[in-house]
Amino acid sequence: MGKDVIIACDFDSAKKTFEFLDKFQSKKPFVKIGMELFYAEGPSIVKEIKKRGHKIFLDLKLHDIPNTVKKAMAVLSGLDVDMTNLHASGTTKMMQGALEGLTRPDGTRPILIAVTQLTSTDEESMKKDLLINEPIDKVVMHYAKNAQTAGLDGVVCSPLEAGKVHDVCGKSFITVTPGVRFADGDVGDQKRVTTPAKAKELGSDYIVVGRPITAAEDPVAAYERCCKEFIG
Ligand code: C5P
Repeated sequence: MGKDVIIACDFDSAKKTFEFLDKFQSKKPFVKIGMELFYAEGPSIVKEIKKRGHKIFLDLKLHDIPNTVKKAMAVLSGLDVDMTNLHASGTTKMMQGALEGLTRPDGTRPILIAVTQLTSTDEESMKKDLLINEPIDKVVMHYAKNAQTAGLDGVVCSPLEAGKVHDVCGKSFITVTPGVRFADGDVGDQKRVTTPAKAKELGSDYIVVGRPITAAEDPVAAYERCCKEFIG
């Protein structure tokens, strides 16, 4: 699995997204399209970005009954994205359904990864709101194992958890990690952050980087710095 930097295109319109992507004239970065952009512009935004030569991680975090997720994944697979995701808390059966739906008639499919616990969920809210009384680390590793059992390719997690996920699920189980900041950059609303270089050291397979690139004075230079630190 090749290491790569994924840019989180957290824009609310196609216009802003294309103004940003137009800056990248040589290497076409791997980009993440989230709910905001997808709900604003619909599937056409995925097709247009794909046509421009970018790989796409469609970050819609599906969670519903297995049959609904299976059918929704079949639609997303038809959009020819490279990676997509769901919530592991939807159960192993839902993840298996998703995988079936995502697999194209020729046997190929996008990479499918699971969100374990959102980084906005802490142990206290897990106990209070969800009545989950186990330590959060244990829950994250259990969900990662469930994702692996269902046949998924990996999980979204903090770079700080990447090593442990690899210990539990093996080196080839993919870790996709947001929460990345340059050593001399703004942390913003992220709580537990690491630099691209540290994420590499901790074993992340893909880093997801938003504002350190999208809000930089020179986004191309910031992207190249990320690649240099993370990929080498
Ligand atoms: O701008 P920033 O680098 O913080 O963007 C990180 C991206 O990764 C955002 O799109 C955010 O929604 C996403 N993300 C995250 N933490 C998670 C899951 C996704 O920051 N646990």
